Amino acid sequence: MPSISSFAAQSATSPLAPYQIERRDVGPKDVQIAIEYCGVCHTDIHQSKNDWGASNYPVVPGHEIIGKVSALGSEVKHLKIGQRVAVGCFVDSCHTCTSCNADLEQYCLNGFTATYNSATKDPGGFTYGGYSKSIVVDKHFVLTLPDGLDPAGAAPLLCAGITTYSPLRHWGIGPGKTVGIIGLGGLGHMGVKLSHAMGAKTVMITTSKNKAADAMKLGAHEVLISTDAMAMQAMTNQFDFLLNTIPVPHDFNHYMPLLKVDGTMCIVGSVGPTADLNTGPLIFGRKSVAGSLVGGIKETQEMLEFCAKHNIVSEIELIKMDEINQAYERMLKSNVKYRFVIDMNSMG
Ligand SMILES: NC(=O)c1ccc[n+]([C@@H]2O[C@H](COP(=O)([O-])OP(=O)(O)OC[C@H]3O[C@@H](n4cnc5c(N)ncnc54)[C@H](OP(=O)(O)O)[C@@H]3O)[C@@H](O)[C@H]2O)c1
Ligand SMILES: [Zn+2]
Ligand SMILES: [Zn+2]
Repeated sequence: MPSISSFAAQSATSPLAPYQIERRDVGPKDVQIAIEYCGVCHTDIHQSKNDWGASNYPVVPGHEIIGKVSALGSEVKHLKIGQRVAVGCFVDSCHTCTSCNADLEQYCLNGFTATYNSATKDPGGFTYGGYSKSIVVDKHFVLTLPDGLDPAGAAPLLCAGITTYSPLRHWGIGPGKTVGIIGLGGLGHMGVKLSHAMGAKTVMITTSKNKAADAMKLGAHEVLISTDAMAMQAMTNQFDFLLNTIPVPHDFNHYMPLLKVDGTMCIVGSVGPTADLNTGPLIFGRKSVAGSLVGGIKETQEMLEFCAKHNIVSEIELIKMDEINQAYERMLKSNVKYRFVIDMNSMG
């Protein structure tokens, strides 16, 4: 088995550093991909630093993967060598449960296999992600990249894009709806672009005054500074839907008054247990707090087609692999415009 260059965290406190991994041989249903670009998601930081207490080291992060097919299993007929393809947040599921049968592999009742840090029979015992030169993935979990999408800018669509697209679709966002996107980072900037393209009135809700001009350029119709009590008060009962991308524990009650009667705040930031939720505003406005996890394979392909049609990619800062630790530091300070993408050619 050839040794493949990657970058890995060896412990919760060690910086990411070069590490050699092995991948499984290409099986009949498998696609081998030479990775060109990998986006940097805040989840990569959570997992590298064991924020969720379930990291298995070494962690090779990365689930926003774009590359070219370099080998195909005998049963893979719909792809060609050299074709540009993509892989998102998971690489296997049971294929038989009600969720899998409904194209909702992300909610697989038997547990999906995440692109990294999930138990696998592959070498190493846990999946290794896209901060590496190549990957081998079951054909069902390989997306095709529509023509016209810039490959580096498209990488973040595989997580930030689908994680915001899926709830916007699920909650019927379109013309006539008012949507607030909370947090202008990787997910948030895709949320603004997608909500705008779906025809909703889109408001960027941010803690960072200095991001207001960018938010408008990205497609926000208005910007609401969430630390401005007067501005927040003025927007009471205005929103049909809030998409909350904040990556740290925070007080949900701060945002609930923004919702109209029957409005929903969907949480996508994995923040664990949170401060007490005041049930009064929920009951007195029939409001909901919900959650959402990435999106299924069929919906991810649909999202890529939607982005191609609307000319949407991520705003990226292209970095070299060995700049990853500085990129993490900047993301932890909310200082990224608006997604780091690693150029995998920068790694030997
Ligand atoms: N559910 C899913 O399927 C899924 C998928 C991918 C990622 N995630 C999770 O989603 C979260 C966001 O990921 P990301 O990659 O978008 O992160 P990111 O690029 O770091 O952006 C997060 C943004 O949240 C805001 N923020 C940060 N700290 C805050 C605080 N203390 N109070 C209020 N706002 C704060 C900042 O925006 P402003 O400066 O505008 O305030 C920041 O730019 C992470 O927890 C990640 O693990 C979930
Ligand atoms: Zn992600
Ligand atoms: Zn399943």
